Amino acid sequence: MRVGILTSGGDGPGLNAVIRAAVLTGMVHHGLEFVGIRDGYRGLVDGDVRVLNRSSVRGISRIGGTILGTSRTNPYEGPNGGPDKIRETLDRLGIDAVMALGGEGTLAAANRLANDGLQVIGVPKTIDNDLDATDYTFGFDTAVQIATDAGDRLRTTGDSHMRCMVLEVMGRHVGWIALHTGIATGAHVTLIPEQPRSIEWICDYVQSVYDRRRAPLVVVSEGFKLEGMDEAHSHKGLDAFNRPRLGGIGELLAPMIEERTGIESRSTVLGHIQRGGAPSGADRVLATRFGLAAVDAIIDEAWGSMVALRGTDIVRVPMADALGDLKRVPEHRYREAEILFG
Ligand code: F6P
Repeated sequence: MRVGILTSGGDGPGLNAVIRAAVLTGMVHHGLEFVGIRDGYRGLVDGDVRVLNRSSVRGISRIGGTILGTSRTNPYEGPNGGPDKIRETLDRLGIDAVMALGGEGTLAAANRLANDGLQVIGVPKTIDNDLDATDYTFGFDTAVQIATDAGDRLRTTGDSHMRCMVLEVMGRHVGWIALHTGIATGAHVTLIPEQPRSIEWICDYVQSVYDRRRAPLVVVSEGFKLEGMDEAHSHKGLDAFNRPRLGGIGELLAPMIEERTGIESRSTVLGHIQRGGAPSGADRVLATRFGLAAVDAIIDEAWGSMVALRGTDIVRVPMADALGDLKRVPEHRYREAEILFG
């Protein structure tokens, strides 16, 4: 059997570890052949592939990004898109099954292809950890570690100058990265999309920390919404390419805090640094286990399923399970951080 692997949507540390594990176990233990599909669904519709073998995956689990490249192409769009054309392309290339690695958009397309009769298996990926069907996704641990290092560094310079430091982290819909970073760094305030707060509420905390002769650290998710602020006056809006602007709340908050409290404030937007570079050890292990389990799913012909983490076990669930509501930070988890505020 010949398997095509693709990585689609935003990249994340750990993708290469999935590829390596799948190729090694698939070739050695099951006699499978592998090709890498270049640039996600773009390569699938264009039939752009390269052979993957043991030497092409040697040493890649410690490398960030994806050796296959990625794109946000929708496999149902364009003259070569859609199940019939893709089936023709796969037949021409001798590819029997596709392993699709990606987040919600990737899995939605993979699930649709599976429903249209293609032999597809999903592997969940998001640094935001917002997929409901799995307890954790690889990339999240690395992102939290990078953000934690940044927060620790901001604290020492903040302490020296007695400034309020605002650290904006990724998470456009959910606040998992901010929550974990806030707890890990001992942030004085953590702000997440699931819990809108007013500027007065934030400033009260900042002021009380400062009054105790401490430099406040505020960790904020890029998707956080300030209570009482209409969209038109918030950081939201469209960028030069007409895409919704996501980041920027940190840069909005710091001057607002300074204006209202008189405390000198600075913001740092961490951005894609959280997605780049080597995966943490924990992410390499999780990604490797996902890769092994995805090959098992192919051998069992469990088309339309994806691998997931439940507790410490790797399980198989319908891809559709990952496409419902996002996994938001529940109230009780936010309370855990909030107890430590101020
Ligand atoms: O979905 C993961 C994520 O990292 C979000 O937290 C962030 O808003 C987005 O990707 C950024 O995407 P892009 O790489 O397209 O700018």
